[in-house]
Amino acid sequence: MNGVEFVAFCRSHKGQTLIKEVQDLLERQGGDLPSVVLALKKGRSDDPALLSKVAELCLARRKAGPLVPWANEGFFTLQALEQSTAPQVAHYHAQSFSGAATLLEVGGGIGFDTIALARIAGSVTVLEPDLERAPLLLANMELVGAANVTVHAKSVEEFCLHNSMSGFEALWADPSRREGEVRIKDPARYRPSLVWLLRQALPERVGIKIAPGARLDFEPEMAALSREWIGMRDECREQILWRGVNKDALSVTLVDKQQTFSPLEYPSEVGVVDLSLELPRYLFEPHAAVIAAGCVAQLFNQHGIKAIDRRIAYGVSEHRPAESAWVKALRILEHFPYSRRRLDHAVQAQGFGRQSTVKKRGLAQSAEELHAHIAWAHKGEIAGVVVMARVGNGQHAFLCEWC
Ligand SMILES: C[S@@+](CC[C@H](N)C(=O)[O-])C[C@H]1O[C@@H](n2cnc3c(N)ncnc32)[C@H](O)[C@@H]1O
Repeated sequence: MNGVEFVAFCRSHKGQTLIKEVQDLLERQGGDLPSVVLALKKGRSDDPALLSKVAELCLARRKAGPLVPWANEGFFTLQALEQSTAPQVAHYHAQSFSGAATLLEVGGGIGFDTIALARIAGSVTVLEPDLERAPLLLANMELVGAANVTVHAKSVEEFCLHNSMSGFEALWADPSRREGEVRIKDPARYRPSLVWLLRQALPERVGIKIAPGARLDFEPEMAALSREWIGMRDECREQILWRGVNKDALSVTLVDKQQTFSPLEYPSEVGVVDLSLELPRYLFEPHAAVIAAGCVAQLFNQHGIKAIDRRIAYGVSEHRPAESAWVKALRILEHFPYSRRRLDHAVQAQGFGRQSTVKKRGLAQSAEELHAHIAWAHKGEIAGVVVMARVGNGQHAFLCEWC
């Protein structure tokens, strides 16, 4: 059963009845897909592949519930949902294309970006070569009433054999950055390839989503590209290359806070604290999007924070700066050059129990491994924060509390 037939089946009476049955099963099995599929297949003559697809759709609808109000009737696969743009972020991207009469979208997925773009642009032409996914995208557009969207089940390379991207007023591209479960690190190997895309004749306004940590092996300013990192909650979600839109050459935006940081307004050389001489009272952790953008020094300069080491994304200060979405502040209770005995002793003296958090930077072990090796206060009631970081050639420990 291909994608088009699958959508038709799900909309049929038989499909609706099966979906209802799977939803009840999922509810009873606490969302455990393998056991739902097993229970469904028992004593049934239906196509097992179809049953698996319906079960996956139902689980994906549950997962999409907190994201979109139409989730319960939407069409998703678990993988496509994982790769989709968060609707709040999609809405933010789309604003840059306001007033565009025609927009080309490359890599439509299941359409979270498409929906936001369709609200802003006159018409949206979407390219989605995955023959299973394109019908799901189309069904979602029908569901939300996005009548100005045309979906082509083809790759951009195929599309460009007979059409020109520059014929559109704007381009939004969200290339595939995974090969199965494996992340593709090199943007030249994205599908479509970033290198290939940038060599084409493009519209005036362009936005291309790439991975937060993607390194470009060319000077972005040579291609007149601005780079923007997008944060939401505590995470860095993505990096966008923009051309022809009103953006600083480098910027970091927290979409949920509606705040943008422009690192080029601050020096990139940062003061470093001498922990053997100074007794800073606050430790600061920059937002993940600032770290991904490589502009921790600029952020520290904006906030009057000194680094503990130029290579480490933790800073300190005597004073607690004003509340900020960009840095989390911890009150330092004590700090010292790391030794295991000293750390165990200090943790017990502070009454830090196992519920405490360990954070680390610049060390090979994971935070979980470090946590497991600390002799926490037996019956310790306090949920403290232990920060371990590389400083110079050694390691330093900070015992802190959230403030
Ligand atoms: C990261 S997903 C896009 C997710 C989408 N923005 C959303 O919110 O659902 C990338 C999509 O690009 C599609 N794709 C892969 N190769 C492509 C190509 N050569 N041309 C156009 N699209 C492609 C994939 O099938 C995949 O659905």
